[in-house]
Amino acid sequence: MSKPIVGIIMGSQSDLSVMKEAADFLEELEIPFEITIVSAHRTPERMVSYASSAKARGLKVIVAGAGGAAHLPGMVASLTSLPVVGVPIKSTNSIDGWDSILSILQMPGGVPVATVALNGAKNAGILAAQIIGTNSEVVSAKLDMYKESLRDKVEIQVKEWEQKGWKNDQIK
Ligand code: RP5
Repeated sequence: MSKPIVGIIMGSQSDLSVMKEAADFLEELEIPFEITIVSAHRTPERMVSYASSAKARGLKVIVAGAGGAAHLPGMVASLTSLPVVGVPIKSTNSIDGWDSILSILQMPGGVPVATVALNGAKNAGILAAQIIGTNSEVVSAKLDMYKESLRDKVEIQVKEWEQKGWKNDQIK
């Protein structure tokens, strides 16, 4: 088993159903990652130790997700110079998701968090892979193939519409 180069962390076990999508994408691309729970509010010392040791442990990028008053991604970004991708999560304690989005997005100058859409963990996994891909031809080639698969899917749909019309049975 290769050493993890992406760290996926989340504030609570209840975030896993969303954050799993980042892990699934990295697994698909065979990028070694670790995944665990780190809570900014409930385990602050663990957060400090995780973020401050991340680079020395060989991680290249951290994907951090949290809901509500979502301080985890920003605090982790304050403790490491690794790129941090933040995933706002619409959790049970969230008002409507905006609390989490704004907590992760509106970072002060000097401490960026690359914030994806609400519950956008898949895009966070893709972005993490793209960061890894800047230094790995293998990963970069897999990402090119992924992009092609997105294009192919739409082109197939366009052909079906052209042949069968937009009201056909295959359209859901
Ligand atoms: C946040 O509070 C977590 O990231 C989670 O999204 C939310 C709710 O946590 P639980 O009460 O479900 O553990 O800190």
